[in-house]
Amino acid sequence: MIIDVQKAAEILRSEDVVALPTETVYGLAADASSIIALKKVFDLKQRPADNPLIVHVAGISQAHTMADTGTNDFLLLANEFWPGPLTLVLPKKPGVLDIITAGLETVAIRMPDHPKTLAVIEKSGPVAAPSANRSGKPSPTRPEHVLDDFGDDLPVVDGGTCSVGLESTVLDLSGSTPAILRPGKITADEIEEIIGKKVSAEAAGNDQRRRSPGTRYSHYKPSASVNWISPTSSQTHRPGTLYIYHTHTPTDTGNNVILFEGDYLEFAKSLYDLYRTADKKKYKYILIEPLPDATLSPIIPALLNRIQRSVSN
Ligand code: TXA
Ligand code: MG
Repeated sequence: MIIDVQKAAEILRSEDVVALPTETVYGLAADASSIIALKKVFDLKQRPADNPLIVHVAGISQAHTMADTGTNDFLLLANEFWPGPLTLVLPKKPGVLDIITAGLETVAIRMPDHPKTLAVIEKSGPVAAPSANRSGKPSPTRPEHVLDDFGDDLPVVDGGTCSVGLESTVLDLSGSTPAILRPGKITADEIEEIIGKKVSAEAAGNDQRRRSPGTRYSHYKPSASVNWISPTSSQTHRPGTLYIYHTHTPTDTGNNVILFEGDYLEFAKSLYDLYRTADKKKYKYILIEPLPDATLSPIIPALLNRIQRSVSN
């Protein structure tokens, strides 16, 4: 059910959940101070209780109420990138509910870049919101995706198609060195330039698993099996398979062949919608042209991370 900003704020105040648009993906939001509403988020998503939620704020002053924002790095980054696709993990304030942080001493916070959602959060106060998909499904980038997963009764604020289409960069500022726990549109290079220090972006080792619980779970998977196109495979396109190219332009095309012609931002924006469309059309396979070096586009590490996690093995 599509609702407006006013209604969304009312629903949040009455301790119920609502899906809100952001520039990355739609979020399933609950008042960050309501255990009842937060429980509904975990139940609806069938999300494991040990996977913490991101708190969404309408500005830096709301962030101060949730986290210990004392570091200079926080202020530099929030001033530069908020509102925007950067989530900052900080030591939490004592009042932040354990259900949000999964019992961790830190809380993840971001200010999303969508006028409707900022208007809602200004009225309701901070909301905790995971992506508004059922756990294990691709994140929703259009209002229809949310309704497909949860049914027409779920209230959704229609903010159109998400402009970034991949989840935010998660940066942990609570340790001795800043560490990227999940790559997104804001890159390590951009962050280093603002704070003037090295950011670690190591792959998921044991330590990182502890710090970013979400990386433990299988994610971003459509029902069709996803794989990279082998460089030695033939050029013929079989029906029942979706082919995605970003650089190469094959001679044999059709409506199951998608071309991005070097536009990696458009590819990122469309990825989850293509996964969902492939499932609707009952495609068995999704084959993707291997991605080039990150120097071609700053979104490539995030795109690679999401595709790699959805590849069948
Ligand atoms: O772009 C986004 O970040 C979207 C939109 C809705 O804002 N949200 C999103 O939420 O992707 P979710 O729940 O699907 O992913 C949140 C990620 C998970 O990997 C979780 O483990 C991590 O953030 N996270 C949350 N709190 C954390 C904390 N205190 N420490 C480390 N990682 C945390
Ligand atoms: Mg998610």
